[in-house]
Amino acid sequence: MPRMFPSPSTPADIDRAVVLLRSGGLVALPTETVYGLAADASNEIAVRRIFAVKGRPASHPVIVHVAGATALDAWARDVPEAARRLADVFWPGPLTLVLPRSARALDVVTGGQDTVALRAPDHPLALAVLKAFGGGLAAPSANRFGHVSPTSAEHVRVDLGVEVDLVLDGGPCAIGVESTIVDLASDPAVPTILRSGAITAGDLERVLGVAVRLDRDDAGMEGGVRAPGMLAAHYAPRAGVELVSASAAAERAAALTAAGSHVLLVAPADVPAPGLTAEERLDAPVEPADFARVLYALLREADLRGASVVLVVPPAESGLGIAVRDRLRRAAAGRG
Ligand code: TXA
Ligand code: MG
Repeated sequence: MPRMFPSPSTPADIDRAVVLLRSGGLVALPTETVYGLAADASNEIAVRRIFAVKGRPASHPVIVHVAGATALDAWARDVPEAARRLADVFWPGPLTLVLPRSARALDVVTGGQDTVALRAPDHPLALAVLKAFGGGLAAPSANRFGHVSPTSAEHVRVDLGVEVDLVLDGGPCAIGVESTIVDLASDPAVPTILRSGAITAGDLERVLGVAVRLDRDDAGMEGGVRAPGMLAAHYAPRAGVELVSASAAAERAAALTAAGSHVLLVAPADVPAPGLTAEERLDAPVEPADFARVLYALLREADLRGASVVLVVPPAESGLGIAVRDRLRRAAAGRG
């Protein structure tokens, strides 16, 4: 049986987590973005268990979580000045840096690539575990492969509960979508965002003083993309996902319902949909950052309500709205 604790976890739980990690166990950890499924990044067998539990293909590398910028040179080589500046400014925080890997980074972690992804998460529980543990923690999001990421300990328990040795409960995630991933390995002079998150291109540009590229490659594995987790079909609930504008929502909902779909509309409360009952609607926040915080909980709720199609009116494409729209597009591709 997994050991589980009601929120908040205590110092004794942190000690227990460290003991488990040192002996090759799997510990689900809260971070400010989403919950991660952590194992000792230096223990090949433990990292393999992550892949087995998630049902994740071995070619999909995992992020190594570290306590702070001093770990850069342990896990990466030829660390460019830009990486140090970004780590100084944004760590701990929702920013993952892709760098040339050091010998310490195992093939099972990097997917055999010559690069490693590093991040210091900004959550007191995760940082306490990392500091006490001392090493790096390989941790993908604690969900089954391709599904919706968990933003509460309860989500983890529902998805992976019996297969995880310990679930640390740090409450709901403050940000709600995964970290921004920046590639500084291909060309440090041209930082490239592989996955959008709370730290935007503008945030990075203000610190680095150079233009940041946005990699909007939706080709999936066939395209040989460098962030292999960025499959088109990802972050998907069981229900189909469809994006719709506020003005078209009512008509689209009616058409889908007429065609026999069980529609759930996720939209701000003022978006009219006269044909739908209260049970067939979930109110979405207008502010992009607020939307991000509840995005995955809304998609999970849609599945609980048995929806066959989730119609979503997305937030504005600014700030965290960029990441929310990116995840929704991928979720939509999931049943495309
Ligand atoms: O916010 C987050 O980043 C969360 C929390 C738990 O830290 N983690 C997370 O992990 O989202 P995961 O495994 O679900 O997504 C990691 C992404 C994948 O798309 C993977 O392909 C990419 O990071 N990645 C990992 N190592 C990489 C590398 N060396 N080069 C390029 N992309 C890499
Ligand atoms: Mg994931």
